[in-house]
Amino acid sequence: MSDIRVRGTTGLRGEITVPGDKSISHRSVILGSLAEGKTRVWGFLESEDCLNTLLAFHRMGVKFERPGLGELEIVGAGLDVLAEPLDVINVGNSGTTIRLMCGVLAGQPFYSVITGDASIRSRPMGRVVAPLREMGAQIYGRAGGERAPLTIIGGNLRPIHYQSPVASAQVKSAILLAGLFADGETSVTEPAHSRNHTELMLRGFGAQVKIEGTTATVVGRPKLAARDIRVPGDISSAAYFLVAALIVPDSEVTIQNVGINPTRTGILDALGAMGADISIQNVHDEAGEPTADITARSSALRGTEVRGDLIPRLIDEVPILAVAAAVASGQTVIADAQELRVKEADRIAAVAAELPKFGVKIEEKPDGMVIHGGTTLGQDLQSCPIICDSHGDHRVAMSCAIAGLAARGETVVRGSECVQTSFPGFQEVLSGLVVA
Ligand code: S3P
Repeated sequence: MSDIRVRGTTGLRGEITVPGDKSISHRSVILGSLAEGKTRVWGFLESEDCLNTLLAFHRMGVKFERPGLGELEIVGAGLDVLAEPLDVINVGNSGTTIRLMCGVLAGQPFYSVITGDASIRSRPMGRVVAPLREMGAQIYGRAGGERAPLTIIGGNLRPIHYQSPVASAQVKSAILLAGLFADGETSVTEPAHSRNHTELMLRGFGAQVKIEGTTATVVGRPKLAARDIRVPGDISSAAYFLVAALIVPDSEVTIQNVGINPTRTGILDALGAMGADISIQNVHDEAGEPTADITARSSALRGTEVRGDLIPRLIDEVPILAVAAAVASGQTVIADAQELRVKEADRIAAVAAELPKFGVKIEEKPDGMVIHGGTTLGQDLQSCPIICDSHGDHRVAMSCAIAGLAARGETVVRGSECVQTSFPGFQEVLSGLVVA
């Protein structure tokens, strides 16, 4: 088990980049594998999660090369050439891999079994299994198909219109990907907008995709054509350093080349409402995705309310938002975020367990939390160092590390190897910013 160790500091300064967007990296492998020709990707996130997606397609006969750091070339041969995997596909910790792959596997006329680590085997899969069964796939799993391992015998899919009970890009994407293998129009309506990278990238590969309100529709059996993709930096990774710059005194940090797709920028809206000094420069387009440089400076933050349609737009950023809320004046309410209970860890319980170690008062709610701000982190604590636990969750680990930068004394985050699932190099970027 590896630890991250940080000390409270002042004066974070610098221009940094963060690794490529995780969601876009997964999708570049999936669509590159289903397209005809060589798809070239730059800025591919070489994290455990995305490499597990690559390995899954490798097991089904897709050829790829990795010519350099962050570079990937995938040679696809169209929709109908995947081969039956000879063994179980293991996605490790990656929820995006298992759910999106279920959509792809549902379209294949062969037998496959897909599973993952203990966290994945405890997460809900019925949300993708139910609509994929409705499309005609045979899917079996523990608890009637609610839990992995899942066995899938696919093929002969029919298009559906699915009214999703959750705003989830993984559910939406699984159905749209399955829809590629069905004749006719497959559509998904969600209760609120979730990230739309699948829709944008499908269009980029030449599929017909309509987006009307919260309904996304794909026309089945397209001919997807290989393309070049430059993956922007991941705003979910940038968020740790934005918050670090906001809460550590005398700081100014610029993160270059970050994706600012509006379905992902809820964190900027929430921090803006808290009075954060954040500016956006150099807006341009990468892979059909808006991208920019973002600068954050130390700010006197105040509490806010985060709920409703904003939640899916910052779902992965709630743990780091809670850290910002802890030092902000007044209280912050996070509601309608029950989805956090079924992430890599129960992130509501994990944040409610870890932030009090810095002296933060926090109330756990079924669908969120109330954070009583104004805390000088670590001030009234006798024990040093502050020992945090990642709960096996990368976002909890990185959030605790950032809290440690603004806390008195030393913080140790135990079990931090999970950071590799989304942000290899996190510690190096962090040490690069901390003035020794
Ligand atoms: C993701 C969708 C979100 C997010 C996850 C990545 C994706 O999950 O939390 O980290 O790439 O589609 P849900 O679809 O479960 O909300």
